[in-house]
Amino acid sequence: MLPFSTAYHELTLKRFMETMKKIAILTSGGDAAGMNAAIRAITRTGLDKGWEMFGVRDGFSGLIEGNFIPLGARDVGGIIEKGGTMLGSARCAEFMSSEGQQKALEQLQKKGINGLVVIGGNGSQTGSNVLSELGFPVIGIGSTIDNDLFGAEITIGVDTALNIALESIDRLKVTASSHKRAFLVEVMGRNCGYLALMAGIAGGAEAIVIPEINSPPDEVAAELLAGYKRGKSHAIVVVAEGAEYNAEKLADYFKANQERTGFRLGTTKLGHVQRGGTPSVFDRLLATRLGAAATDYFARENYGLLLGWIKGEIAATPLSEVAANQKAPDLKLMDLADVLAK
Ligand code: F6P
Repeated sequence: MLPFSTAYHELTLKRFMETMKKIAILTSGGDAAGMNAAIRAITRTGLDKGWEMFGVRDGFSGLIEGNFIPLGARDVGGIIEKGGTMLGSARCAEFMSSEGQQKALEQLQKKGINGLVVIGGNGSQTGSNVLSELGFPVIGIGSTIDNDLFGAEITIGVDTALNIALESIDRLKVTASSHKRAFLVEVMGRNCGYLALMAGIAGGAEAIVIPEINSPPDEVAAELLAGYKRGKSHAIVVVAEGAEYNAEKLADYFKANQERTGFRLGTTKLGHVQRGGTPSVFDRLLATRLGAAATDYFARENYGLLLGWIKGEIAATPLSEVAANQKAPDLKLMDLADVLAK
């Protein structure tokens, strides 16, 4: 029989080994301002729990290649104020195949990783769900400027992207008013109209065009003309890139019908400008809270979940539900936007 002190020591060591974790973090899909703040929070709260922390370079493709880097407290210093992701991100076609997924699992096992945090949007969390269904402990953190992720009212990067869009809209409005001109601003969002709707309301747009609502160009032209008749000196149309009539098509229409509509429409496509900004206070705090929660969930052996912000709190939604659903914007806000544009 072992002397008490050795038995006690072995028991303590066993408990320590059970609670000791090696956690990896990856960022995937489009970069979003605040991803770095999340990486920092996950790393430092994990280290505080006595765990070993790793980063995966370049999303799921880095995972397939086994591209891990150790993360210490200093490695994540000076990144909270930076947009983008220090780990790099990618969209990975190979991970869609079961061979790719097996390779990723093998790399995680080879490295002795026993938990993975995936920071990303819809496509990324579908990847999280795949690994989770294969039996690997995964926690997702909602991060995409599109704000179309089920399980999160607002994702990391949305607030910053909206503020960037808004700054451009405000500037265009100044020139529009000075010259009595009309401008079209196209914002990102993939198939979701959230960014356009919110930027349009916050920017006082005369018309908002989103994929979820059919807005023929004739109607848009009529709205702008009505605004001029009511004495407005400017006209701003915020259009989502995923709308049937995106900026290009609307601009073509207005060009072809310039005589009839009576005005020209200048076009500004914001594109990736919206993604790379300095994270706002909101995004830094959201990312920090979600990141810290991720290690708390791992500590409680609770995973297979997406952590998102719902009704002012961190909510956990099964990754299977997240992968099976997509969130739509609140279309009632479109009626409000119409009233406010009067
Ligand atoms: O999902 C974020 C997003 O910025 C979308 O709004 C946009 O449609 C897409 O990514 C652009 O993707 P990429 O950067 O691969 O061109």
